[in-house]
Amino acid sequence: MSMSSPAVEIVSTGRYLPDRIVTNDDLREFVDTNDEWIRTRTGIVTRRLAREDELAAEMAATASRIALERAGIAPDEVDAIILSTATPDRLLPSTACDLQALIAADRAMAFDVQAACSGWLYAMSMGEGYLAAGRAETVLVVATEKMSAILDWTDRTTCVLFGDGSGAAVLKRGDGSKGIVSSFHASDGRLAELLWRKSGGAKVPLTPERVAEREHLMLMSGREIFKNAVRSMAQACDEALERAGLTGDDIDLMIPHQANIRIIESTAKYAGIPMDKVYVNVDRYGNMSSASIPVALDEALEDGTIESGMKVLSATFGAGLTWGAMVWQF
Ligand code: ACO
Repeated sequence: MSMSSPAVEIVSTGRYLPDRIVTNDDLREFVDTNDEWIRTRTGIVTRRLAREDELAAEMAATASRIALERAGIAPDEVDAIILSTATPDRLLPSTACDLQALIAADRAMAFDVQAACSGWLYAMSMGEGYLAAGRAETVLVVATEKMSAILDWTDRTTCVLFGDGSGAAVLKRGDGSKGIVSSFHASDGRLAELLWRKSGGAKVPLTPERVAEREHLMLMSGREIFKNAVRSMAQACDEALERAGLTGDDIDLMIPHQANIRIIESTAKYAGIPMDKVYVNVDRYGNMSSASIPVALDEALEDGTIESGMKVLSATFGAGLTWGAMVWQF
């Protein structure tokens, strides 16, 4: 079977990471934990945390400006901004609209996608769809996450796992030689309460009592999430590879969602991809939810890990539950 031809190209990427580097030992200020536990269970050594007054939209604006500048595209040439976040700066309107105003992308329609850690790959497929259908010429696909704002800093089972950051990509229709080759996305809403925030929406509105109980912050059933993540990412890799007409042997590099080194290793093993072909930065940044893949992609392009001609497989998993995978030709 021959590989399908990509209609949409990734023209450029950009990233932003907050300056503040927080070590595992630094976290002992908040919770009873230690470096050895965090390293062996998760592979995380440090994470970046945003300033309290730093907004998800501002982080997105920095990543987006870099991506647009590298593409040589002015903000007012962007037709659509699709922004993934599980940590919007406010509930209404979207963080995408705040980003649009910050970068003066005056012609663009702008909206948020909420698919937790899977959001950026979902958003990439939406951008691909607008371009392939001829409804847009230039699409900015961004993920921005201020996880530190929704973490319970008294819960050692979650607060040690996450970090803040943002990544962006500019998409355009290509000549068929490189770009998005295939994708697969799925969800299972029956398992919503494995990773969730109990209150803060219309169903369970915030009250002072619920805030005092920290019900507005993130809760996770770690073991169940772990099992589902490995199973789902393996399925997503299979499906995306099959749709691309490829096998794991054809893949030059894998960029998995950076949640946890053990999930990454299990997924790579299942997909038949050796760890020396897997891009890992969870040690430096922790889990940046949907920003983890675009940040890793930008780093891999910048440091030369991705070279022209390479085939790259990306796979993700997150709250929802949601999961997916995408194959790119560079
Ligand atoms: N420091 C020290 N000890 C800890 C910590 C910590 N930070 N957290 C938990 N422990 C303790 C627990 O209290 C428990 O102690 P006990 O036996 O005395 O009760 C012990 O460590 C074992 O706890 P478990 O929860 O059973 O540990 P487990 O081996 O399952 O590892 C972990 C926990 C790392 C969270 C694991 O379940 C995991 O990786 N899950 C996936 C989480 C994840 O990646 N989520 C995000 C994916 S989806 C997304 O990206 C949004």
